[in-house]
Amino acid sequence: MTELASRAPLGHTIQGRISPRLNVPNSIERPEYMFHDGPERITASDVKDEETIERIREAGTIAADAMYEAAKAIKPGVTTDTLDRIAHEYMVDNGAYPSTLGYMGYPKSICTSVNEVICHGIPDDRPLEEGDIINLDVTAYKNGVHGDTSAMFTVGEVDEESRLLIERTAQATLRGIRAAKVGREINVIGRVIEVYAKRFQYGDVHDFTGHGVGEAFHSGLIVPHYDAAPLYNTVIEPGMVFTVEPMLTLGTIDYDIWDNDWTASTKDKGRTAQWEHTIVVREDGFELLTLPSDPSVGLRP
Ligand code: MF3
Ligand code: CO
Ligand code: CO
Repeated sequence: MTELASRAPLGHTIQGRISPRLNVPNSIERPEYMFHDGPERITASDVKDEETIERIREAGTIAADAMYEAAKAIKPGVTTDTLDRIAHEYMVDNGAYPSTLGYMGYPKSICTSVNEVICHGIPDDRPLEEGDIINLDVTAYKNGVHGDTSAMFTVGEVDEESRLLIERTAQATLRGIRAAKVGREINVIGRVIEVYAKRFQYGDVHDFTGHGVGEAFHSGLIVPHYDAAPLYNTVIEPGMVFTVEPMLTLGTIDYDIWDNDWTASTKDKGRTAQWEHTIVVREDGFELLTLPSDPSVGLRP
């Protein structure tokens, strides 16, 4: 009998080949950044009215359902390209544009970040291996707004250290979300996440942040996942919509960017995990706008 390892292996995730860009029917509305080069040019308040919040919830639900649909296919031997195609087809079949496809030149419909990849892994033809951990990050655009979510999944049986990293990163995400209260500065979220991550001596990534989301994919509002005070002192208001999406690591937070200009992976090749919800802050709490339709899955408080 072989005993399941307790320690996470160092990463050896290699870049595969990226398949041609998938098609989106002309009937599906494109986000404005698809019509010009460079960054988005949207200006909208981060405080949304109820009608806009409901549209973000619809886009967010499609993103979450696409993500969990793709996740059903996760097993050894399946490529991240296949997961991309499943999520792409789900979004398109539900009238949504896969927000990442063509965003600042990004070539695929979702991000797939395996093992030591912190974020922005590009789906390719590398087959998943037994023991891998993977983040799927899906953003859907419909009726003029984006909903953005991500979650961690395991490939077959994984070691204990990876399992704990995934679970505690989920808890860090929920703690950060619960800290987002009206009247507090937005930097409270990262303070709570940092305290929790330190308890386990996890690295808490600084350079990739949460963000305002809605009419814009990334509105300009920054949500740090570490204690950035006195910076990022925007006061949280009722109706504010943004993401919370911390990345925690087993070692360093230093990273390399692959020569595809997107993918960030830890310098020490230690594993890393991330979860993400789009939330709206309410007078007396918050609502998650990226819950999947199936109540038996999803990160829930
Ligand atoms: N969905 C990611 C986020 O949470 C952004 C991905 S942008 C891409 O903000 F271009 F890399 F896809
Ligand atoms: Co995302
Ligand atoms: Co995001």
